[in-house]
Amino acid sequence: MLFKSLAILTAATAAIAAPVACGEQPASNDQKDNHNDTPKYVLNLFPGAGVTGMKPLQVRGENIVWGLTQGYSNFTVDSIGDALANVISDGQPPKELYVADNGQLVVNEHPAETGKGYNGGWGFSGDGSVKEFSSYGTKEFYSCVSNDDPLHGGNDVYVFNGKYACDKPNKFTIGATKE
Ligand SMILES: *[C@@H]1O[C@H](CO)[C@@H](O)[C@H](O)[C@H]1NC(C)=O
Repeated sequence: MLFKSLAILTAATAAIAAPVACGEQPASNDQKDNHNDTPKYVLNLFPGAGVTGMKPLQVRGENIVWGLTQGYSNFTVDSIGDALANVISDGQPPKELYVADNGQLVVNEHPAETGKGYNGGWGFSGDGSVKEFSSYGTKEFYSCVSNDDPLHGGNDVYVFNGKYACDKPNKFTIGATKE
């Protein structure tokens, strides 16, 4: 068990050549259900160098979007450990934030659970008050106008995984401000 988890973590670390928190693996039993003591962040996109405005990321259904004026909720991400993160939004139980095969940021119907030997890949790096948000070491994010609902669906957020999911991606980085 232990060797298997370590092998997975080691493989992930080597594959991304990015720092993954080590030496802080919680014991796999005795996990807490609530995460009152874990860091929570608001995510904002930074559209490029010398930006004046930050735009808050929003949640709409199972999608992470930005730029909507209605039909969305604000959220925070709860960095619960093992590089896993839960989306916390009004009136909803915590739900895991993960990356779909096409790179899209999506919200699971269940919360993420730590201590299962699974690394979520989410990173919050830097010493400033705004951390750089990353997925398996990648800080390049972008958005595409929603395929499902171009008129009302907003701009779906993706992490760059080697190719873009649309012809005219809007590229940005994401800053995480601690609550
Ligand atoms: C989301 O947050 C922004 C900025 O704080 C606020 O102006 C807006 O009313 C909030 N929207 C909702 C749906 O709570």
